[in-house]
Amino acid sequence: MRISVTGCGYLGAVHAAAMAQLGHDVIGIDIDEAKIAALAVGRPPFYEPGLSDLLTESIASGRLRFTTDASQASEATVHFIAVGTPQTRDGNAADLRFVDAAVDALLPHLEPGHVVVGKSTVPVGTSAALAERIRPTGARLLWNPEFLREGYAVRDTVEPDRLVYGVETGDEASVAVLDEVYAHALEKGTPRMVTDLATAELVKVAANAYLATKISFINAMAEIAEATGADVTQLADALGYDNRIGRRFLNAGVGFGGGCLPKDIRAFTARADELGRSEALAFLKEVDAINLRRRRRVVDLATAELGGSVVGRKVAVLGVTFKPHSDDVRDSPALDVAVALKGLGANVVAADPRGVANARARHPQLEYAEETKDALRDADLVILVTEWPEYTGLDPVATRELVAQPIVIDGRNALDRDAWTAAGWRYRGMGRS
Ligand code: UDX
Repeated sequence: MRISVTGCGYLGAVHAAAMAQLGHDVIGIDIDEAKIAALAVGRPPFYEPGLSDLLTESIASGRLRFTTDASQASEATVHFIAVGTPQTRDGNAADLRFVDAAVDALLPHLEPGHVVVGKSTVPVGTSAALAERIRPTGARLLWNPEFLREGYAVRDTVEPDRLVYGVETGDEASVAVLDEVYAHALEKGTPRMVTDLATAELVKVAANAYLATKISFINAMAEIAEATGADVTQLADALGYDNRIGRRFLNAGVGFGGGCLPKDIRAFTARADELGRSEALAFLKEVDAINLRRRRRVVDLATAELGGSVVGRKVAVLGVTFKPHSDDVRDSPALDVAVALKGLGANVVAADPRGVANARARHPQLEYAEETKDALRDADLVILVTEWPEYTGLDPVATRELVAQPIVIDGRNALDRDAWTAAGWRYRGMGRS
C-alpha cells in the first residue's frame, strides 16, 4: 500500500516506520523541519526503545521517507492522521487545530478510492464532522484509534492487542483497504472490530478513562492506608488475585502523567459537558483530583521528613519523565514534584537517564545531574519519582555512603523496603506505614 502519515510525533513516527517495515511504501509528513530532518537520517527526535533500528532499517529498504511538503501525500492512497490533540490553554477541551490543519493540507490531494484514517485521540463526534468535509473529494474517512504505550510503542504498533475500525455505514471498501494495511497483524489473529465512527472514538477515551480510574482508585486506597496504617501494596496484591479486578494498573504512587491520560480524561469531561451529560463523567474530575493530590503528598512528605522546611536542603529527585523507558516529561508527576520543592526553597538536583534535555527546556531553573551519584552526593533527602531500573536497582548500602542523611521517599513503591531499611535508611513509601 502507498501510505502517508501526517504528524510524526510519538505516535506518527513509530506508525510510519512500522508500516514501512511491514512492506508498505510510506511518506511521513510533519511541519516541524528539525523533526523531519532528524527522522530523514534515521534519528528519532525522541527516545523510544527500538525506534532507531526500525527507522534505519525502513529507510535503508527505500520504503520510508520523510518530508515537510504536504503535497507529497498525493503519492499515497491511504492517509493516516497522527497529529497531537493537546489540552487547550484556557480549558480542559482538546485542541483540534492540528487535526483540522492536517485535513486541510490533505484535501487537495484526495481522490475517489482514497482512505483517510484518523489515529489521533479526538472528542467523540469529531470524525463525523471531518467525514463531511472529506466527502466532496470522493475519499472516505475511517477512525482507527491507537492504543500504543510509550516505551513499548514499536511492539504495540506491530503487534497491537486489538484493531478498531470506526466506519460510516456500509463503507466496506474502506474496511477492506485497512485490512490490507494491517494484513500482518490480522494473519496473527489480532481481534478486529468494525464499529461506527462515534464508538471508535469512544473506545480510546473510555480505555484511557478506565486506566486512569484504576490508578486513582488505588491511590485513593493509599490515602486511606496512610490514615490507618494499612499497606496499599499488599492491598493491591490481594485485590489483584481477584480475576475480575486484576493486578495491572494497581500500583499506587505519585500517580499518572504523560501526554495522554491526564489530557484525555479532561477532554472527555469537557465533551460530556458539551453533550449535556456532565453527570456521567463527574467521577473523572475526582480521578484527576486524587491523582494531583499524590504529587502534593510527596511534597508534604518531603517537607515533614526535613523537619518542616525544605529551604536550603539538598533534595535528590530521581526521575523527571512521567514513566520509565521514555524521555517524555509532559504532565510528569516527577517533574512537578521537583519544581514544587524548588519553589519551596529546596536545593533540588534532578537526574534522569533520558529526560534531562526535555526537562531542562521546560524548567531551566532546576539543577540537573549528569550522573545519578552527583544528585545523591550529600543529599539530605532522596526521592524516587520515576521507576527507572537504574534507580530501583540502586544498592542501598553504597547509596548510603553518598548522602548526607539516609532518608528516602519511594514515590513509586518500587524499592525493596526491607533492604533499604536494613541498610539504615528511613524509608517512606506511598500508602505504606
Ligand atoms: C497510555 C495508555 O496506556 C495507552 O493505551 C494510550 O494509547 C496512551 O496512554 P502511556 O501514556 O504511554 O499510555 O502510559 P501508561 O503506561 O499507560 O502509564 C500512564 C501513567 O500511569 C504513567 O505515568 C504511569 O507511571 C502511571 N501508572 C501506571 C501508575 O501510576 N500506576 C500503575 O499501576 C500504572
